[in-house]
Amino acid sequence: MKNLFDKYRTQVVLGMQWGDEGKGKVVDLLAEQCDMVIRYQGGANAGHTVQFDGKQFILHLVPSGILRPGLTCVIGNGVVLDPESFLEEIHSLESEGFEVMPRLHISHLAHLILPFHKFIDKAKEASKAGQKIGTTGRGIGPAYSDKISREGLRICDIMAPDWQDRIRTFMAVKNRQLGLYDHEPLPDKEAIDLIGRFRGKAAGSVTDTRRFVYQSRQEGRRMLLEGAQGTLLDIDFGTYPYVTSSNTTIGGVFTGLGLNPRNVDRVIGILKAYTTRVGNGPFPTELTDDTGEHLREKGHEFGATTGRPRRCGWFDATIGRYAVQVNGVDAIVLTKLDVLDNMETIKICTGYRIGDSVFTEFINDCSMLAQAEPVYETMPGWQTDTSDIKTYRDLPGPARAYIERLETLCETPIETVSLGPARSATLWRAVA
Ligand code: IMP
Repeated sequence: MKNLFDKYRTQVVLGMQWGDEGKGKVVDLLAEQCDMVIRYQGGANAGHTVQFDGKQFILHLVPSGILRPGLTCVIGNGVVLDPESFLEEIHSLESEGFEVMPRLHISHLAHLILPFHKFIDKAKEASKAGQKIGTTGRGIGPAYSDKISREGLRICDIMAPDWQDRIRTFMAVKNRQLGLYDHEPLPDKEAIDLIGRFRGKAAGSVTDTRRFVYQSRQEGRRMLLEGAQGTLLDIDFGTYPYVTSSNTTIGGVFTGLGLNPRNVDRVIGILKAYTTRVGNGPFPTELTDDTGEHLREKGHEFGATTGRPRRCGWFDATIGRYAVQVNGVDAIVLTKLDVLDNMETIKICTGYRIGDSVFTEFINDCSMLAQAEPVYETMPGWQTDTSDIKTYRDLPGPARAYIERLETLCETPIETVSLGPARSATLWRAVA
């Protein structure tokens, strides 16, 4: 296969739905062709699943490229880093024999998630009568809130000689907030011990990643930027307030890394052949019947981070087109097509009906979206096992018709089709 990084040196992989589109597998496959894999937003709320040699790896914080020996990995300033998850993940990767730290570069400007943030995340959710977001409980919202309120603790703070004092000052402010939840103050020692362990492991990897990434690009290194979550979980363009707290869309690359827009050569969007969502919020094509249950079971739709069952539904083309527009998607990878193998008929949502009005574009105002009734078109299923198919043209006719219809509705080429978690279960269509 042709190495697309020869033509497009810097490529982004991002999710086009509510996350869990299968980015981990795609990043792992593309990582074979590049020199660097870089995370730019989110934190340990992500769960990127990669499967090879009969083993499954779930990465939360470290870029999936770490599983390819020799690759350089970067955690950019836009990521919120939880030292506890970080140390656990590094430990488990090292015990599997992966060399991690010498290949990992961590931004000195990234913000930290401390146990305090995780406590607040859970306490806020528990205190809501209705309208719970259904967060992962990983402290993501509170850590980004601190960042935006200019009260956060960054990696450069804890690398400074007076790091312990900085943690004490930070904890003094935060412990006052805990009082609002009738919670005892958290001891400074807990945070200081945790950060002490993090420093011991990671100090040598902390750097100005903006400069490092920019220079690497100038030197012609091939890089893959790995998005976490998906377009509809974006803090601005998602289904607010049922979103995560970062920009999961293309803007997150620039603020979360410091690259400029001219430095991105290609955007690859990942779409699942149907739709899933974890957590609360409107989901017009959700199936709460046996068909939804079938998708969940066959697609193993359980959260990689929390184990929660994912809500499942038909493909929504308004979402696909919206994600193309917001992110400037050049090419789509369609994942989990095999999950639809047994379906007699398959529905595609092409618009919404609210009262007497029909909308053909995605509605990003959540209260309106909650009233939307999907308008469907129906296509025949293929009722054939596709698991052993090795080329696009060998797919059953109705499967190709389905893919090509999605391509037309999303106004973007579907260049790759994934038929299962294995690296080999991937069909590459002819690419320019
Ligand atoms: P938070 O990111 O933990 O604050 O959660 C906010 C919302 O984003 C919840 O609905 C989560 O279920 C969802 N979410 C966060 N990370 C992921 C992910 O990696 N995949 C899918 N949903 C996610």
